[in-house]
Amino acid sequence: MIEQILQGLEAKGYSFLPQILNEEQILRINKFFDEYRGEFRPAKIGMNGSKQRIDSIRGDYTYWLNPINSKGPFVEVFEFLNKLRDQINERFYLGLKEYECHLAYYPPDSFYHRHLDRFNKDSSRTISFVFYLNKSWDISNGGEIVMYDKKGNILDSFSPMPGAFICFLSDEFPHEVRSSNLERRSLTGWMHNKIIY
Ligand code: OGA
Ligand code: MN
Repeated sequence: MIEQILQGLEAKGYSFLPQILNEEQILRINKFFDEYRGEFRPAKIGMNGSKQRIDSIRGDYTYWLNPINSKGPFVEVFEFLNKLRDQINERFYLGLKEYECHLAYYPPDSFYHRHLDRFNKDSSRTISFVFYLNKSWDISNGGEIVMYDKKGNILDSFSPMPGAFICFLSDEFPHEVRSSNLERRSLTGWMHNKIIY
């Protein structure tokens, strides 16, 4: 699995796997999702002092996780991410250190306009990753992640199928989240090339 991801990163700079989490893992994470739903907050754009919510750019709600001492349904996800990070470092010398991540849900009809994950002022976000967590999904529900090149040409588009995974170089690929007709759930994060906690 990790080898396949590394090959995608090497060949294209991004890699999509249609199923990396199994049904049981997805159900366990969804239970957490349902329990903590009230604690999710409207996601904002920008950094530190200049953070703001703009619904016409981004409509998701997020709940940040602590990958350093996490328990319960996320242990296997973090074990996988630690391995992935170490192997990316061995192969590509990216010097990845820590990662941050949050759960996210997009209510029906919400979206995230095309953007780049790397901030102007802080360039430490190096690899972006997303696990898709809906229990079931049909392509007709929408909610695709669309990958662009820097000129604005569409490179690819992927449906958020249950247990699917994508990662990509944060600085290279503008991307968008298209609206869907169902709530769309994910775990999204960023591997940094510096210590962040
Ligand atoms: C993000 C993002 C993609 C997705 O949260 O920055 O682009 O498919 N998410 O959820
Ligand atoms: Mn993004």
